[in-house]
Amino acid sequence: MEQEQSNEKRKSNRSPPYALFNLLVIIVAIIYGAYYQMYLAKDSTQADETLKSQKSDKIINEIPLFTANELKKFDGVSDSKLYLSILGEIFDVTRGEQHYGPGMPYNAFVAKDISRAFVTGEFDAKSSKDSLDHVLGLSPRELVSLKKWRDFYAETYVFVGRLIGRFYEETGEPTEYFWQIDRKIQFGLKQQEEEQNFKQEFPPCNIEYKADPGTTRYWCTTQSGGIDREWAGYPIQLFNQDSKTFSCVCAKKENFDLPQLRLYENCDDATRSCTVQSEEQSNDD
Ligand code: HEM
Repeated sequence: MEQEQSNEKRKSNRSPPYALFNLLVIIVAIIYGAYYQMYLAKDSTQADETLKSQKSDKIINEIPLFTANELKKFDGVSDSKLYLSILGEIFDVTRGEQHYGPGMPYNAFVAKDISRAFVTGEFDAKSSKDSLDHVLGLSPRELVSLKKWRDFYAETYVFVGRLIGRFYEETGEPTEYFWQIDRKIQFGLKQQEEEQNFKQEFPPCNIEYKADPGTTRYWCTTQSGGIDREWAGYPIQLFNQDSKTFSCVCAKKENFDLPQLRLYENCDDATRSCTVQSEEQSNDD
């Protein structure tokens, strides 16, 4: 009920900019979709550049190749070494035996490629309808997180070779599947960078709840939202694309007329701290 009332209130306050905002959302969605397609396009120049450097690597250093059967041995039992594969790259994790050894918490990662489990936490190949190295269904953001795991292994453990299969051909060259994933990761990284830039311009507010008398205080400092900056800004509601939910961000006055921003009730544009009733609370709460 309270939610409906506050939605109504918002609608009535937002009629003209609301229409403009919807139009903006549609335009952004179209540009975003086109941009995404561009990234997934087969002839991505950036990917081709990476491919070139990988090919020359292959010529200069002979990279050992493993079949899934060969990798299976490195489970700490058949062979005392522990190997795991992520995105088709195999690492020797023997010195992390306390994590990966037989009976240890992350032993399921060993002697195979179950890349998807790094994101989903789903370890049981039998109960999964796709094999656990199939990662194309993950979102760009999830794939970036998977890439971070790959980078972690590259920094922490010794690379021992490539796994022939989903990500690498029998020749050791990356498969088309590998490049599809690579393009999606690059798209995810770009997305993350844009989000980071947005957060620099609109950092989250500090928030304090008071159960009695049911109020929430929003305020801005030069460090709120974990973003160090020279300006503090003013607390303001930032509406999501659905125009129903919002969060509190710190904005500079020059940005106040953006359609997705709206001042809290009873908080004028000179208020650095806003205390509102719980019904005005946002999805930060
Ligand atoms: C999708 C979920 C998760 C994945 C894929 C994951 C994976 C991993 C991996 C691979 C390691 C070993 C890193 C290394 O080689 O040094 C690790 C370490 C660790 N994980 Fe997780 N983890 C997950 C969730 C969690 C959760 C929920 C917790 C805590 C409740 C946790 C606690 C730890 C701790 C404490 C270590 C370090 C152990 C140590 O250094 O002795 N993990 N994790």
